[in-house]
Amino acid sequence: MGKIVAGKTADITPGKMIKVSIDGRDILVANINGEYFATDDSCTHSGSSLSEGKLNESTITCGWHAAEFDCKSGKLLKFPAKIRDLTSYNVVIESDNVFVEM
Ligand code: FES
Repeated sequence: MGKIVAGKTADITPGKMIKVSIDGRDILVANINGEYFATDDSCTHSGSSLSEGKLNESTITCGWHAAEFDCKSGKLLKFPAKIRDLTSYNVVIESDNVFVEM
């Protein structure tokens, strides 16, 4: 698919995460201390939109049942049951544009 623009850097300020739809797929893009990261937005437990959850440092907490994922790697950090990691994507910044490589 290549490199898809997800937004402007000014719209994703430090500590913020947004959801963007790229070719019908919901992607979470987060700014952690000036570095940008992207993962699938759908929680691998029951599909909640993770961008509607909480972001603390690099930990995303799902708003439905509190699964925790590492925003940088997509790895599951904490949940009582075994669920899949999130797919993560490389992010590239060019001028003031945030691109997700898919
Ligand atoms: S839907 Fe995310 S923890 Fe249940």
